Amino acid sequence: MALLLFGMCFFFLQPQGMPSRPTPGDTRIFTSPSPIYEPNNIPHPNGTYQHLPHTIIIGVRKGGTRALLEMLSLHSDIAVAESEIHFFDWENQYEKGLPWYLNQMPFAYSHQLTVEKTPAYFTSFQVPERIYNMNSTIKILLILRDPIERVLSDYTQIYYNHLQKNKTYPPVDSLLLQNGKLNTDYKAINRSLYYTYMENWLRYFPLQNIHIVDGDYLIKDPFPEIQKVERFLSLSPQINASNFYFNKTKGFYCLRDSGRERCLHESKGRAHPHISSFLLEKLHDYFYEPNKKFFELVGRTFDWL
Ligand SMILES: *[C@@H]1O[C@H](CO)[C@@H](O)[C@H](O)[C@H]1NC(C)=O
Ligand SMILES: *[C@@H]1O[C@H](CO)[C@@H](O)[C@H](O)[C@H]1NC(C)=O
Ligand SMILES: *[C@@H]1O[C@H](CO)[C@@H](O)[C@H](O)[C@H]1NC(C)=O
Ligand SMILES: *[C@@H]1O[C@H](CO)[C@@H](O)[C@H](O)[C@H]1NC(C)=O
Ligand SMILES: *[C@@H]1O[C@H](CO)[C@@H](O)[C@H](O)[C@H]1NC(C)=O
Ligand SMILES: *[C@@H]1O[C@H](CO)[C@@H](O)[C@H](O)[C@H]1NC(C)=O
Repeated sequence: MALLLFGMCFFFLQPQGMPSRPTPGDTRIFTSPSPIYEPNNIPHPNGTYQHLPHTIIIGVRKGGTRALLEMLSLHSDIAVAESEIHFFDWENQYEKGLPWYLNQMPFAYSHQLTVEKTPAYFTSFQVPERIYNMNSTIKILLILRDPIERVLSDYTQIYYNHLQKNKTYPPVDSLLLQNGKLNTDYKAINRSLYYTYMENWLRYFPLQNIHIVDGDYLIKDPFPEIQKVERFLSLSPQINASNFYFNKTKGFYCLRDSGRERCLHESKGRAHPHISSFLLEKLHDYFYEPNKKFFELVGRTFDWL
């Protein structure tokens, strides 16, 4: 596996501490209808409204959520919230209630779908229930990549965050290995145990309402992946191959939007650190079973084994 594969990175704040698990009931909760907040919405003079999101990109951190959001925004029927809102995962925001959340949404025309993305939602245990309570039929987008690449990308971002503050951060091998064993307490490793989080989402939402974007494919060849998203959201097929062009300097696809060209922020796609083959093997062994469990859960395989 090419560990020098460029990854997509993005900045965002990570909530501190994990919330507690919901009481184990295990069966899916599709019973009560969601109490949908119906805003007494007055259109802006320019004819736009703020809507609660029709779809939410829930994660995963370092999976390519920014790229996905930017690509989706090429579509004229999509309106995106540019910043990460952290409504459902941060208590101090959630307490502000749905009117506050609505107020964070972009101004959109009535034919547009509103999209929010907060990558920390996927790994926050209380979030699925909260989203369910807002809209039980909402369409969810989840972008995942090879769990090992995700760990290294996660590490790389934390490394650069330290660097920017003139702080040092240990080399990857010394963080991930302790006494010759994989340090599974390292948060980034835990965040790549996708099935543990997915089980929780599937207690609230049926699989057909959660579309998984293959983040590794989205980097290599964005168009087919984004077409699948268009279909999932029942959007007209509008985004086409000419919306993407490969930038050789960056080693990445950039976007062409009605003539305007834009690339992701330079913090995206940093090179991952080289790791020893010993560590790589440990990571492969560690993620093998969790990955298979995830495949079973979602009835689909990925090139991660
Ligand atoms: C409409 O007004 C809102 C609020 O000022 C603004 O954010 C939005 O960009 C405007 N949209 C258009 C299409 O002018
Ligand atoms: C709930 O989500 C579905 C799927 O996106 C959407 O069709 C519906 O309008 C949403 N309901 C509200 C009240 O936003
Ligand atoms: C880090 O160090 C550089 C060079 O010594 C300095 O210019 C910069 O202000 C420092 N940044 C911070 C956040 O302290
Ligand atoms: C991963 O983290 C969660 C939340 O902190 C914890 O409940 C779980 O036991 C961890 N999983 C492993 C395998 O360490
Ligand atoms: C692709 O979409 C653009 C508008 O976004 C349009 O001008 C162009 O004709 C389309 N190209 C093809 C091959 O459909
Ligand atoms: C390609 O990427 C380089 C490096 O990030 C950037 O300076 C340049 O503007 C990009 N060119 C195009 C056409 O996107």
